Amino acid sequence: MLRAPMDLPGAHDRALRAFRARFGAEPRWSAAAPGRVNIIGEHTDYNGGFVLPMAIDRYTVAVAGPGAGRRIRLVSANLGLEDEIAADAPISRGEQGWANYVRGVLLGFQRLGVDVPGLDLLIDSDLPIGSGLSSSAALEVAVATLLEAVIDRTLDPAQKALLCQRAENEIAGMPCGIMDQFVSVMGREGHLLLLDCRSQETAHVPMADPSVSVLIANTGVQRELVVGEFARRRACCEEAACALGVDTLRDATLEWLEAARDRLPELAVRRARHVVTEDARTLEATRMIRQGRWPAAGQLMYASHASLRDDFEVSCRELDVLVEISRALGEAGGVYGCRMTGGGFGGCTVSLVKTAEVEAVASALQSAYRRETGLDAAVFISRPAAGATILGLEPS
Ligand code: GLA
Repeated sequence: MLRAPMDLPGAHDRALRAFRARFGAEPRWSAAAPGRVNIIGEHTDYNGGFVLPMAIDRYTVAVAGPGAGRRIRLVSANLGLEDEIAADAPISRGEQGWANYVRGVLLGFQRLGVDVPGLDLLIDSDLPIGSGLSSSAALEVAVATLLEAVIDRTLDPAQKALLCQRAENEIAGMPCGIMDQFVSVMGREGHLLLLDCRSQETAHVPMADPSVSVLIANTGVQRELVVGEFARRRACCEEAACALGVDTLRDATLEWLEAARDRLPELAVRRARHVVTEDARTLEATRMIRQGRWPAAGQLMYASHASLRDDFEVSCRELDVLVEISRALGEAGGVYGCRMTGGGFGGCTVSLVKTAEVEAVASALQSAYRRETGLDAAVFISRPAAGATILGLEPS
């Protein structure tokens, strides 16, 4: 009941059927990219810090066949929307928000000197949108991976992730960091991805203990103005780094922050304190997870949540309610730790849960959440999944 509703072959099949129904032809290329959940290390990526996400087993699938001339007919099967893009000129931002992620990636390939050909391109996804599970990065990375297949050229994985991030920054207008695109490209089955966002070095951290599961609970709340709040947080961190005389908050310490109290607004001190302490928690949690010390890792997740709620102020009541219910269940009730995941202001929590108790935890979480908020939380578990992949097509 708590497994992903569809596996990758199932998601691929659905996209192929949608393509045939819409275009009346067989697609020639096909690729998929996963969403992600971040175990810990929130709002640290654009501060040059550490993050510890994993790819989840829910995907965006992109399938394509040759198009007429240099025209791209773009269809989103899951949104029921269409767009049309001329590929014989520099691609720019369009009217439709969802299509801008695709436009940004196509522009990234043009900037590499690629003559993007005409395509019939269909997107399908089983990732909930605006829920903090990186449906946007999955869309960008799925399209970039599909284009690799179309032009028969493989990009360096980091280059591909950065191309996708730039698409989101410049064309979709979201000043995100590099976490989501990196893990959607580089995720590995059974592993978390520890990413140093300054050096862009990565390490795959095994997460294969069958007695522990990653449980994701969706508040069902999506906030407006997320982009504006995100941009404000990012600007505030950059100002704090500048006042401290460092390139990014990655290089700051709590002592320096304390010493600079007179020179910094109180708000900037709290924002920076979150980033500095979150970096330390992320490295410590990585150590704990490597050693299988789940209760200690769980406590760091609760501390991360408190810092995001109080210092960084990106949580919301519904997220706090889910975290408090989890804390009340506690280790005896099957939960090691829980926190909000992703940008915040709604979306999902992530918890480390005893596998033997996942069903009981899920139903306790759902009923207490309904009682306190009147809302339904969708709950599911995910194993750490592999990153983006080109999918083979049966010869037609
Ligand atoms: C969003 C952004 C990421 C990261 C998180 C917060 O998901 O896309 O780059 O900044 O928020 O950790």
